[in-house]
Amino acid sequence: MPASEPQSVKEKATAFVVFGATGDLSRKKIFPSFFELFKTNLLPEKFKIIAAARSAYSNKEFTQSLKENIEADDKNLWRKFSDLIEYIQCDVESGKNINLLSQRLEDLEKTNKVCTQRIFYMAVSPFIYGKAFENLGKYKLNLGCLNHQKLARIVTEKPFGFNFQSAHNLNEILNKYFDESQIFRIDHFLGKETVQNIFAFRFGNEIFEPIWNRNFVDNVQITLAERIGIEKRGESYDKMGALRDVVQNHLLQLLTIVTMDEPTTFSRDSIRHKKIEILKAIRPFSKDDVINNTIRGQYNGYQQEANVAKNSKTDTFALVKLFIENGRWQGVPFYLRTGKKLTGAVTSIILQFKEHGHELFKNFQQKPIPNHITLQIQPDEGIGISLVAKKPGLTTVLEPVDMEFCYKKSFDVPQPNAYERLLMDIILGDQTLFLGRIGNSWKIIDPIEKVWQKGNPKLEVYEQGSWGPQAADKLIAADGRQWLAPLLTICKI
Ligand code: BG6
Repeated sequence: MPASEPQSVKEKATAFVVFGATGDLSRKKIFPSFFELFKTNLLPEKFKIIAAARSAYSNKEFTQSLKENIEADDKNLWRKFSDLIEYIQCDVESGKNINLLSQRLEDLEKTNKVCTQRIFYMAVSPFIYGKAFENLGKYKLNLGCLNHQKLARIVTEKPFGFNFQSAHNLNEILNKYFDESQIFRIDHFLGKETVQNIFAFRFGNEIFEPIWNRNFVDNVQITLAERIGIEKRGESYDKMGALRDVVQNHLLQLLTIVTMDEPTTFSRDSIRHKKIEILKAIRPFSKDDVINNTIRGQYNGYQQEANVAKNSKTDTFALVKLFIENGRWQGVPFYLRTGKKLTGAVTSIILQFKEHGHELFKNFQQKPIPNHITLQIQPDEGIGISLVAKKPGLTTVLEPVDMEFCYKKSFDVPQPNAYERLLMDIILGDQTLFLGRIGNSWKIIDPIEKVWQKGNPKLEVYEQGSWGPQAADKLIAADGRQWLAPLLTICKI
């Protein structure tokens, strides 16, 4: 993994501005992660978090409101952490009071007496990104500390754009003021330990590379199944749907990591280059491909969720079967699926290996079943390899057995959450785990959305607590296969 040195973080005087500080992402992920970093003494010595949002709050009211999502039994520790946070009422969309923020940043720098790096985290609705970026430029917040020795950094969330064109437009605005080295586009999946471990597993173990291709792999299934629904996100989710919310980013990222050739170095450019090679090699979706190889579903009851259109056709379940047209993967189907309000919560990548007939087992009661490798990202992180073994006994019966590596059993150390890791990298200026301009993944999604918008294939309604529309089972069954998650869930405690 990137050779970041947490020690050097101490010297990085930083003013970390969080726009949208009162929103869900800030409360549930960003501030709790800052607290964890603070607890483990991993924040810079000169460090301020400026919480910026439109509502009126005093510092005290704001920090008090954070307690809902942060467990802080140690009062002293909590007081010290709260002292790092200042609340400023301003609106990055309209530009109202942004001058107060600029002033505060300058004052802070005078107090610190050193160039204090400025970081702007856009935890605001992605729908206001364009105006927000313009305002950062207009108020010269892209320029960094007073003596301009270091440029400011900007952090964006997903979805970045709504399709290829809007992502391109956002990039154009962003690039007017910020160069790529200043831009940290987040896909929080890349901050997850288990996702980073896929690099280590694939490229640190020589034994897998020879079989990691079309000669051995029959199919690959990438699943992100959730029990939760859309929670309080009706308004934005209804404009987006599962394909844009999860497939365009998290699932395509997982796909690239599991299929890319080995990057020459563990660096931003090398990894991005390898990912882009994969995205460009994905066979473009024709109208027929969309009709035959995708499923869009909606859970029963979705239209009654708050802030969702009563006749909404938005997908809460998406399945895409795709092919990568390169020498390594030609002909191997990749099934990507995600859904909300499903019966179980699991995120995994399962590679099913081909089955070769063996004379040796001809007369056995049970034939060997194909091998699998499960890379499980959630809930119980680990890697499993299913093998075939002879069941002890007087008859010869073959049974599948699992070889498991489970994080909880193998490493007795706390796992930082994805946001802790990413916040640390932003402060250190390490872009390895961040995204590039994102255009290539939209180029895959746009043709699918275009056909979906015309009503093809039809929207399948599925029951809450099921595994999604039956059409999803039929699609894979028609290929002579079945869904392997949750069947092959590993590391169950
Ligand atoms: C987010 C999506 O990016 O990822 C959510 O917007 C989804 O809809 C979430 O629930 C899943 O991430 P995690 O880390 O909670 O599994």
